[in-house]
Amino acid sequence: MIVFLNGKFLPVEQAHVSVLDRGFIFGDGIYEVIPVYNGKLLRLAQHLDRLKKNLDAIRLNVSMSDGQWEEILNELVLCNAEKSDEEKGNEGAVSQGTVNLGNACVYLQVTRGVAPRDHSLPAEAKATVFAMCNPAVSAAPELSEKGMTAITLEDYRWKNCHIKSISLLPNVLLRQQAVDSGAAEAILIRENVVTEGAASNVFIVQDGTLITPPKGPFLLPGITRDLVLELASENNIACKEQAIKEYELRGADEIWLTSSMKDILPVTSLDGKQISKGKPGPLWHTLNGLLQSFKENNM
Ligand code: PDD
Repeated sequence: MIVFLNGKFLPVEQAHVSVLDRGFIFGDGIYEVIPVYNGKLLRLAQHLDRLKKNLDAIRLNVSMSDGQWEEILNELVLCNAEKSDEEKGNEGAVSQGTVNLGNACVYLQVTRGVAPRDHSLPAEAKATVFAMCNPAVSAAPELSEKGMTAITLEDYRWKNCHIKSISLLPNVLLRQQAVDSGAAEAILIRENVVTEGAASNVFIVQDGTLITPPKGPFLLPGITRDLVLELASENNIACKEQAIKEYELRGADEIWLTSSMKDILPVTSLDGKQISKGKPGPLWHTLNGLLQSFKENNM
């Protein structure tokens, strides 16, 4: 797998960062996960806009234009795609981590760079920029028949969840609690209202209307969330950004999770209880169809 690290494209085995990098020491950095569909980065402008907002939010100055980011990320996708074509040429070559020009997922991370360990922000430090391109892991086909399971957990994270920080230990532990109980995701509740999933945004369907929590400091402003709202509005499907109370979640006709990694996933079991008819609802099929054709046309 070819990665990008601080201005260079190189095999992942040769990519090293200093142990004094503040990303390693403090989790002092931010990240983006950008889907690649038909070899093209999906909603890149929106991801770069969020990236810049997050760099500002953590007072990390990285002078890169959108064009420069786009050039790097496109080159990263291409050189992995080329590698996979070469490997395809050698019959039987099993390649880990290479991507064809089809679907993939770019992970981009910017940390504050190397400095002596001290909590305060270093006067001088050069940001570390890392990106990798992994094969897209599409949701299992039975998901559209059966849906997925989730549990609810208390949202004990900080009050800057709108920043896509690499300090993901709370999210990791919350997700693991879900996995430990045989569920795929944790839907987080803060003071009796839904915030989001451990690594996803949440939608419910109530009497034919799509509802998702409004943006704010308690959830990530998801790119997929915004795209779903856009597609719903363009197709005259009622949707609103409104707080979802815990009892409304449990009584919802449909529950969905959205993320760049998984598109829109239907939740059909919550805390061991069946949601509505225990299978993906009609509106999920409609919106999922709209999202897939949006991606098909993402040439
Ligand atoms: N996670 N909320 C959280 C806490 C997330 O980590 C994510 C995405 C989302 C959905 O955001 P988007 O639609 O922009 O991907 C919401 C990424 C995929 C990850 O950490 O792997």
